[in-house]
Amino acid sequence: MRPVAGHAARPVRFGSVAAVTRVVCPGSFDPVTNGHLDIVRRASRLFDEVVVAVLVNESKKSLFTLDERLEMLGEATADLPNVSVATFRGLLVNFCVEHDVPAIVKCMRAVSDFDYELQRAQMNGSLTDVDTLFIPTSPEYSYLASSLVKEVAKGGGDVSRLVPPYVLDRLTAAFS
Ligand code: PNS
Repeated sequence: MRPVAGHAARPVRFGSVAAVTRVVCPGSFDPVTNGHLDIVRRASRLFDEVVVAVLVNESKKSLFTLDERLEMLGEATADLPNVSVATFRGLLVNFCVEHDVPAIVKCMRAVSDFDYELQRAQMNGSLTDVDTLFIPTSPEYSYLASSLVKEVAKGGGDVSRLVPPYVLDRLTAAFS
């Protein structure tokens, strides 16, 4: 871990605490972006197991099929041995309870995310004891959303910095 400049390491005594070892990163991932991957990677350093859970929502129109989204996520997380990819239908907290996942990890891009995410975290917490943990998005991805990536790609804009190469290829194919 990088020390803060000017602060020498001091010995610290850690007590024994019950740690959250498995978390879920939920989303539609239509498609996965570098912003999603930033959060998944950072979560994979903090927790023993990270489950990336893709919502199956037949009533929501998506650009990519479920299989395509799973394939892209599989490729994107192939180098992270403690990350797996799954799907879920219905309530996220039911998925968490069924799979013994005590916490949901969500990203916080900007203040505009806060009200929405807080409300959902509190609703989920009221239904079960599944907790929600927020990881601040890295500044370079704070404006990033799958919907915007699709809009820009559809208009012929350059999204190569925002998604992995194999996602870029699929976006290019989808809009050519
Ligand atoms: O990538 P998205 O579309 O912003 O992800 C949203 C997602 C899948 C995290 C959210 O819609 C969700 O959790 N859906 C499952 C339904 C649910 O549990 N609803 C109750 C929320 S309080």
